[in-house]
Amino acid sequence: MNGFDGRVALVTGASRGIGAATARAFAAAGAAVVLVARDAGALAEVRAGIEADGGTALVVAADLARADDAERMVAAAVDRFGRLDAAVNAAAAHGGRPTPLARLDVDEWDRTLAVSLRGAFLSLRAEIAVMASSGGGAIVNVASTTGLEAVAGLAPYVAAKHGLIGLTKTAALDHAADGVRVNALAPGPTHTEALDRAGEAARERVAAAVPVHRLGTPDEVAAAALWLCGDAAAFVTGATLAVDGGLLAGQPPFGAAR
Ligand SMILES: NC(=O)c1ccc[n+]([C@@H]2O[C@H](COP(=O)([O-])OP(=O)(O)OC[C@H]3O[C@@H](n4cnc5c(N)ncnc54)[C@H](OP(=O)(O)O)[C@@H]3O)[C@@H](O)[C@H]2O)c1
Repeated sequence: MNGFDGRVALVTGASRGIGAATARAFAAAGAAVVLVARDAGALAEVRAGIEADGGTALVVAADLARADDAERMVAAAVDRFGRLDAAVNAAAAHGGRPTPLARLDVDEWDRTLAVSLRGAFLSLRAEIAVMASSGGGAIVNVASTTGLEAVAGLAPYVAAKHGLIGLTKTAALDHAADGVRVNALAPGPTHTEALDRAGEAARERVAAAVPVHRLGTPDEVAAAALWLCGDAAAFVTGATLAVDGGLLAGQPPFGAAR
C-alpha cells in the first residue's frame, strides 16, 4: 500500500522540472495523475515514464493564462477518474532578464502575472470547487523563496510569488470548513532545466549563496509537496514551507561570504 493509492492528483507545470518530478512522485505513491502544461509532447513523455513504471496518468494540454483551460483541466480529471483529491500548482512564467522596475516592459509584467498569479488563481478556483463538493482535498501552490524575500530586478516574478502566498492563505481560510487544505512551498534554487542551461559556473555561484552550499533537487521539492497533500499534514493549512537549504533562515555574519 502506498500513501495515495486510489487517489487522484493533478499537477500543473508537469512538463518539466519540479512539476514533472511531483507527478512522478504522486504516481509512485499510488495516485492516478493528471499532467497539465502547454507542451503536449513533453507531457506525453512524462506520462510514458509513469506508465512504464506501472502508474496511471492523463495528459491535458492547457494554457493556464486562459480561464477556460483551468476549468477544462479539472473537468478532464473528473471525467476520467471521477474525483480530485490533490493538486499541485507548479506552472509559472518567469519574465525576462532581470530589469530595474522603472525600465520594465508592461507586457512582460502582464505575461508573468497572467500565468504565475492569475493562472494559479484560476487553477485554485476550479480545483477547490470540485474538492469542496466531494468532501475535501489538499492543494499545494509552488511559490518560491522570492515569495517571501525579494530579489532585485525580478519585480513581476517576485510580485507574483508574494501574491501567490497571500492567495494560499486566503484560500485556506475560505475553504477550511469545506475540508480543503491549501498550502504553499517556497523552494530555493533548484536544479531544473533553467539552471542546467545556465552552466556549471552559474550553478556554483548560486549554490555558494545557499547555506548548505548546494542546489535543491526537483525530487526534494516533490517530497515536500506530497507530504503537504498527504494525511500526515491533515492539521496543516495556510502554511508556507521553505525547501531552501536554509536560504531564508537568515544572513551570514556581517562581512562574511555565505
Ligand atoms: N527551479 C527553481 O529554482 C525554482 C525555485 C523556486 C520556485 N520555483 C517554482 O517552481 C515551479 C516549477 O519550476 P521549474 O523550474 O521546475 O519549471 P519551469 O521551467 O519554471 O517550468 C514551468 C512549468 O510551467 C508550465 N507553464 C508555463 N506557462 C504555462 C502556461 N501558460 N500554461 C500552462 N503551463 C505553463 C511549463 O510548461 P509548458 O512550457 O509546457 O507550458 C512548465 O511545465 C515554478 O512555479 C517556479 O516558479 C522554481
